[in-house]
Amino acid sequence: MRPEDLRAARRPRPHGCWDHLIVAPLWVAYEANVGTLLRTCDAVGACMAVPGTAHYRQALRRGNTLPGRPVCIHWVNRPRSWIGRQHDRGASVLAVELAEDAVRLADVAPARGPTVVLLGHEHNGVPDDVWDLLDAVIEIPMLGAGLSLNVAVAGSLVLYKLAGLS
Ligand SMILES: C[S@@+](CC[C@H](N)C(=O)[O-])C[C@H]1O[C@@H](n2cnc3c(N)ncnc32)[C@H](O)[C@@H]1O
Repeated sequence: MRPEDLRAARRPRPHGCWDHLIVAPLWVAYEANVGTLLRTCDAVGACMAVPGTAHYRQALRRGNTLPGRPVCIHWVNRPRSWIGRQHDRGASVLAVELAEDAVRLADVAPARGPTVVLLGHEHNGVPDDVWDLLDAVIEIPMLGAGLSLNVAVAGSLVLYKLAGLS
């Protein structure tokens, strides 16, 4: 198929919300990272959960390079209580983070039920005060000299795997 036919065959509108896969960059500082994650959400059919602060509203506006309506957004008032409510509705809460007991990305299976994926701050990672709420931590192994990946790259790799598209 030619690239223009492939593009024409894509969904004309964003996915609806079915609460299955939600990426939650709740502590992300840079607008470009929020924008990159939005594109990945659109591509894999995930929702995004972010605090309803001016910072995130601006990041979603400026970082959104998708045509038309953006992907489904869940607004979060208090991250810890929101994560607790995700547990209560039966979702698995996963953090993408470098950690000793983490599961390696290669061993992660596509999500079978509702799944929430937390991403950390660009400098400080996932805050300590939510670690007790996690079902698992996913780490992406690295061979290079860098200590970590860009948060939007890390989130995108994990979302593709959980969505069953890679
Ligand atoms: C730049 S990293 C934060 C690094 C921070 N200095 C720390 O040590 O926690 C930003 C976020 O990207 C994600 N991340 C980056 N590289 C990762 C990796 N190799 N495996 C899992 N998550 C990663 C995590 O969500 C992390 O909180």
